[in-house]
Amino acid sequence: MITRRRMFAIPAAVAAAGSLAACGGGSGGSGGGGGGDNSVEVFTWWAQGSEKAGLDALVEVFDEQHPDVEFVNGAVAGGAGSAAKDMLQSRLQAGDPPDTFQAHAGAELTDYIDAAQIQDVSDLFDEFGLRDVFPETLVEQLTADGAIYSIPSNIHRSNVVWGNSKVLSDAGIDTASAPGSLDDFLAQLEELKSAGVTPLSVATTWTQVNLLEAILMAELGADSYNGLFDGSFGWDSSEVTTVLEKFSTMMEMTNTDRDGLDWPDATQQVIDGNAAYNVMGDWAVAAFEQAEKKLGDDYVAFELPGKEKIFGFLADSFTLPEGAPHPEGAKAWLETIASPEGQLAFNLAKGSIPARTDVDTAEFGEYAQTAITSFAEDAICSSIAHGAATSVSWLNGISDATSQFTTGATDLAGYQQALTDLAEQNQA
Ligand code: GAL
Repeated sequence: MITRRRMFAIPAAVAAAGSLAACGGGSGGSGGGGGGDNSVEVFTWWAQGSEKAGLDALVEVFDEQHPDVEFVNGAVAGGAGSAAKDMLQSRLQAGDPPDTFQAHAGAELTDYIDAAQIQDVSDLFDEFGLRDVFPETLVEQLTADGAIYSIPSNIHRSNVVWGNSKVLSDAGIDTASAPGSLDDFLAQLEELKSAGVTPLSVATTWTQVNLLEAILMAELGADSYNGLFDGSFGWDSSEVTTVLEKFSTMMEMTNTDRDGLDWPDATQQVIDGNAAYNVMGDWAVAAFEQAEKKLGDDYVAFELPGKEKIFGFLADSFTLPEGAPHPEGAKAWLETIASPEGQLAFNLAKGSIPARTDVDTAEFGEYAQTAITSFAEDAICSSIAHGAATSVSWLNGISDATSQFTTGATDLAGYQQALTDLAEQNQA
């Protein structure tokens, strides 16, 4: 987990990223396995909508850089890997790994390292000249005992509020500036409710955990939030009780069909004006852009306000699994995702910012520029819902406890007790 308050800044361009000639070639493929000798099965959960568009942009660069390697798409649908991670684990345990798979930097990656399911890729860092191109503290999230285990493709921010400008202004909310505090934001939700609007959209459990973590960051501030994972701040504290109360209040403001939805549906409710706000990671910006919505005119985006300015951190990375059937194909894929061209094309389409610090970000849109600045300047808190702060099993426990609470199976005290017990079982 990232415990430092800051990670390295992403400096301005130092290298032109190169142009991307349009190219056909061996992209595409369908779900899992297959592929000839010279192929690579890439396992992700970027299966639909704007996430698939992000993957497609990366594959286009891959086809250009490695026309001889066939891309086999092993994507499994379900935001945040909600279905993919279980399936991946079954495959890894059955000795049937994909050639490379998506994993979050931080605690989630540590699970795969500890289980000896992925290989040391330090040599590839040398071969591809990557030693100095990623923020040092990000590389720490990929490292165990001096060995580096994956190559990062992007950095996302998890604690962003997305709002429909028209719905907000119709309800008398001034969209020129973001609410100044979490309580101001809650007051806006009340106003929206009174105006007969769905104040906040949310979807299935993992998106509820995403909302919870954003409230924890906002209400506790970075030091206390980060302390939740190393035992220096208590899940049983009165501050966490307050967070859970606010979470509960916010959940009461959400769409009732939430449990059957995934994040694109919840974000779409805001895009379509059927809900005012959605708290979601900044992959959501790609959905607004795909719908040709303009920041400011059509939608607003701001950090869930709180004690201080915080960047809710997560990063995707790609691995070389033990026993990968096509290690040469996997290396080709890793080379593309590490390359300035790959990072540029992918992140422009995905809504994230490049993990490389030497990519020219001038082309990135207005929202992305705010993420770049925040990542450079604000306190960093590792995401729970996206594997940066917690192992897969700890996250599974938090997800189960959250679902029990939001479906009414437990009360707030029971929820807090469950979260406290989980921390005791899982803290290092
Ligand atoms: C995260 C992942 C992002 C995005 C999001 C929604 O876990 O890191 O890249 O895919 O889930 O599915």
